[in-house]
Amino acid sequence: MSRLSAKSAVLVFATAVIASACSSSPERNVTAAAANPAPKAVGTLAQVMRGIYFPNANLLFDVQQKDPGAPPGSGADGARGSVTEQFASIYTGWQVVENAAISIAESTDLLLVPGRYCQNGKPVPIDRPEFIQAAQGMRQAALLALEAARAKDREKAIDTTNTIADGCAACHEVYRDKGDADSPARCTP
Ligand code: HEC
Repeated sequence: MSRLSAKSAVLVFATAVIASACSSSPERNVTAAAANPAPKAVGTLAQVMRGIYFPNANLLFDVQQKDPGAPPGSGADGARGSVTEQFASIYTGWQVVENAAISIAESTDLLLVPGRYCQNGKPVPIDRPEFIQAAQGMRQAALLALEAARAKDREKAIDTTNTIADGCAACHEVYRDKGDADSPARCTP
């Protein structure tokens, strides 16, 4: 995909969003709500973790080594290669940290979607109070990271990485670190 066509795709999407926001009326919203399907799991819990939690937590942890407030480096920006590399310089600095914190906070809800399984085939233990509490703790930790990112406060952002890591560990100690991804010991208290 060329850079231009990807940009046009983004523009088309933005225009569609604006158009739908302008044309919404209370009546239309009622219809939309009635048709709004319940959230549906697609992947295993491990896949949600690998796809969303892992990369976004790493973006938060990056703040320890790299100051998001520093001017963008020369050379690497706009590098050729994969689409990811090519567009890596569009969202930069503290915005990346903010978005990572938002991704983790929002996806807490995904951990609790009914009908999801762990890789070992066991249902995600969403009926366990400790699991729910750990998910909520994760959300709180991500909101603290978000606050630090919005304030562009690096010291605070570094502090909150400990809270994030503790939030991951609180759940993993009970539900994950009992065996490898196929082990039946996972996802049971
Ligand atoms: C509410 C519980 C909970 C929270 C919070 C949580 N995890 Fe997990 N995580 C799990 C469980 C349970 C598994 C195992 C899932 C499976 O095997 O399908 C897992 C698996 C993973 C895996 C895959 C491991 C493998 O075997 O490949 C990664 C990576 C991961 N988590 C990262 C994170 C990170 C990073 C955080 C914090 C930002 C986090 N998780 C927060 C419960 C949680």
